[in-house]
Amino acid sequence: MIMTDQSKNIAIFASGNGTNAINILDCAKEELFNSTIKCLITDKKDAGIIVKINTHPVYKNIPIYTIPFVKKIGESHPVAKARHEVEIKEILDSHHVNWIALAGYMKILSAKFLKCYFDESFQKNRVINIHPSLLPKYPGKDAYEQAFNSGDEVSGVTIHHVDSGIDTGPIILQKTFKRKKEDTFEDFKNRGLSLEYQIYREALVSLDWK
Ligand code: GAR
Repeated sequence: MIMTDQSKNIAIFASGNGTNAINILDCAKEELFNSTIKCLITDKKDAGIIVKINTHPVYKNIPIYTIPFVKKIGESHPVAKARHEVEIKEILDSHHVNWIALAGYMKILSAKFLKCYFDESFQKNRVINIHPSLLPKYPGKDAYEQAFNSGDEVSGVTIHHVDSGIDTGPIILQKTFKRKKEDTFEDFKNRGLSLEYQIYREALVSLDWK
């Protein structure tokens, strides 16, 4: 992507509760990094993040765009996906977005879409993601469940640049947490989530914002 303007404009993508999205907004409010959050994109009409932002005393004016992935009758998956991403891209362009922070966004972005955010100077996409495992272990969905059910004594969370694979892009930061013998799944996941907020914060501060 050719940059004509040096400002960093971020869009957050989230599909769920949005606790990571709120954490990113908090980091921006605290001016931990020199970028502006322009909008939030979600693919789920009932995503918890929508209510969280709309009722938030400080963030309620952040534009939220709900763009569900819908496959029209007779439409192939790749065509529907391309149309969905064009819709998203138009919104991002209208906000001059040049960085994307995924925060529990559960759709895979296509290579074509990601190419729009490729930075020649550091050979990576300006798209980052948080994943709740020690990648390359447990990519994809339900990573906490997989780590817990496998009985892993040490698990962790990862921040990485996004490429067109499933949770395969270059790793920015990774941190571990220990499972306690008495942990229920909820205890285990909550410990991981606390670490997610901490690691996203650290990544946003230390990121090479090209
Ligand atoms: C988080 O645990 C995040 O790491 C995970 O979804 C959850 C979203 O929670 N993301 C993935 O699994 C991506 N592959 P949140 O909506 O409360 O931030």
